[in-house]
Amino acid sequence: MLHLDKVSKKYKDRSIALDNVSILIKPKEFVSIVGHSGAGKTTLLKMILAEESPSEGSVFYEKINIHTLKKRQMNDYRRRIGTVFQDFRLLPDKTAYENVAFAMEAAGRTDEEIASDVPHVLELVDLGKKLHSFPYQLSGGEKQRVAIARAIVNQPDVIIADEPTGNLDPVNTYDIIQILKKINDLGTTIILTTHNNGIIEHLDKRVITMQNGKVAHDTHPEVTSASNGPASASMSSQSSANLTRKK
Ligand SMILES: Nc1ncnc2c1ncn2[C@@H]1O[C@H](COP(=O)(O)OP(=O)(O)OP(=O)(O)O)[C@@H](O)[C@H]1O
Ligand SMILES: [Mg+2]
Repeated sequence: MLHLDKVSKKYKDRSIALDNVSILIKPKEFVSIVGHSGAGKTTLLKMILAEESPSEGSVFYEKINIHTLKKRQMNDYRRRIGTVFQDFRLLPDKTAYENVAFAMEAAGRTDEEIASDVPHVLELVDLGKKLHSFPYQLSGGEKQRVAIARAIVNQPDVIIADEPTGNLDPVNTYDIIQILKKINDLGTTIILTTHNNGIIEHLDKRVITMQNGKVAHDTHPEVTSASNGPASASMSSQSSANLTRKK
């Protein structure tokens, strides 16, 4: 599904954030990326989100080189990925309901879809009773659950969560990981980064350890070595059609 092929990222000041990283992620995997501060975790996610381009190597999504996509196809690609960040990034003057609804409006969904889906996803993250609370009225854990609801409401294929529990206490951290696990059980691929190995140690899922921009350890390395590689670096009409197909 996602294939990082010998990806390196060097910044202008010559710091090497990623150094020849190859990773294959299959549909419906739950992958945790751990490593010290500066190990390259966020940079890796930026490569997948196409927020930055690799200095060397390629990133393929279903065999399409995402860094060659034109604007419209890039928008379609990004719509397949939901994001969650450490600092929640909610709109402060909108309620939980409105924050989630806003993401659906931006994706062109109808009022009927919004009215039916928003309460449903907020229920899924156990916020059915806080639909009309503003972010300032919510705890950190609750804010992160709104952010997760917003990330999943347009039914992405992948959720990317960069340190989603970084600002949370252990109880809320546990809840957020359990919610991500539930979303994964429902069929969504999860890619999570964390400093805190403790929170994922009992998950029994794949863990990739980053060190100085390299993959130092992968609990499921056979997945990577089973890579059959991309068919081609350019976009075929078939894969282009896949990327623009309506859900
Ligand atoms: N825009 C940038 N310009 C220059 N160097 C950068 C830039 N972004 C990241 N780096 C460097 O790349 C390396 C990896 O950074 P990255 O943010 O990926 O680490 P991280 O593993 O996410 O760390 P943390 O756990 O603190 O979030 C660091 O040495 C960092 O200083
Ligand atoms: Mg980071």
